[in-house]
Amino acid sequence: MNKFDKLIIKGKKQLFGEVNISGAKNSALPLMAASILFEKGYELNNVPDLLDTKIMIKLLNALGIKTLVSKGNIKFLREAIIHVAPEKLVNTMRASILILAPLLQSRKRAIVPLPGGCAIGSRPIDLHIDVVKKLGANVELENGHLTATLSENGFRGCQIKFPKVSVGATECAIMASVLAQGTTELINVAREPEIVDLGNCMIKAGAKILGLGKNRIIIEGVKKLNPISYSVIPDRIEAGSFAIAAAITKGEIDIKKTNYKDLNNFLKKLEITGTKVIYGQNELKIIGPSSLNSINISTEPHPGFPTDLQAQFMSLMCFAEGKSLIRENIFENRFQHVPELRKMGANILVKKNKAYVTGLKSLQGAKVKATDLRASMSLIIAALAADGESNILELEHLKRGYENIEDKLSNLGAQIN
Ligand code: EPZ
Repeated sequence: MNKFDKLIIKGKKQLFGEVNISGAKNSALPLMAASILFEKGYELNNVPDLLDTKIMIKLLNALGIKTLVSKGNIKFLREAIIHVAPEKLVNTMRASILILAPLLQSRKRAIVPLPGGCAIGSRPIDLHIDVVKKLGANVELENGHLTATLSENGFRGCQIKFPKVSVGATECAIMASVLAQGTTELINVAREPEIVDLGNCMIKAGAKILGLGKNRIIIEGVKKLNPISYSVIPDRIEAGSFAIAAAITKGEIDIKKTNYKDLNNFLKKLEITGTKVIYGQNELKIIGPSSLNSINISTEPHPGFPTDLQAQFMSLMCFAEGKSLIRENIFENRFQHVPELRKMGANILVKKNKAYVTGLKSLQGAKVKATDLRASMSLIIAALAADGESNILELEHLKRGYENIEDKLSNLGAQIN
């Protein structure tokens, strides 16, 4: 698919069968950035083959990290580290900011272009800058670049209280603290499973971290991280997206290789819509109901309802009986999918960060434009259930975060090409 590729989906096809969930994009990216911290390199398994992971590989290569990639396995070898991150790569992917702390720890200096915002909001990085400053770095902002330096002794542990919960800034703080001198206490941290995954990898490599998954983490700096092999957790957002696809098409899907405990809040809400959820060992069976109940959702940091499933859930509510209120509390502009869903006939009223959805018996296939990663999936999900054919344009967003999505959907009976 190139930027102008489109997906043609014929609606009203029930999805049946099983799907294997890929490794989590939002866990793989920080775990890949962390390779800069490993003197003797390390190995990562179950890395999804996505545009974003490809960009991260290119970025790490540009910084002097050698990578041997085969299928979902990447061996990282750290040789001479370069401290300047190339602008064009950083600008294509916001998650590039995750190299800031590892680069500073390894090279004691870093020049990183400010990542751009994107469709879902301005995406500032002030909390990342606060973290590295508190741990001892000097940071200058000049003509769109961060220029950071650190004393030869590296980061110095301290207490950091986050003014707001931030996944990326928490990952930055963990990567800055594991090799710091002394102990770091992090308060009001993000508790996403991807944070726990990063921490578990560091612990396996010899880091001393207590409190992963809670809102306070204590990290005692160690001298080095040992070369290990680590496997990325399954992608809970991909699993949630397929669960919604089963629900909206009145189908039945076995979702394999998934840690459903990471989706508790979402699955409870899905069950209230009348969707049947059968819990198995590392798998879920989802059975779509003949009619959907509408419910209200409000996105929150984990363990609340994930913002990355808000757009997909909105598509589901467009087909539910009655009205639902969807509150987006994490990003200031994460309703880009609304005008596109309206092209399919959806009845959605937006007031600031609230979307009032009135469910309808059906939507009509239409030509729609994807604006961001999760919006792309919400349009695919709506098109699967709509009457007639839909064309979904601007697919470069989709391939950032869903591995082999067309094949996975086709194998479940979707008419997609
Ligand atoms: C991560 O983004 C994910 N991306 C996002 O997934 C996810 O939506 C988000 O966490 C929330 O769960 C990756 O992990 C690569 P935040 P991140 O820092 O770290 C504000 C997807 O679709 N903020 O938790 O950027 C920010 O603007 C993507 O896979 C600051 O104000 O999210 C937002 O309003 C989208 N200053 C809120 O905090 C900062 O320095 C939460 O953002 C950083 C963030």
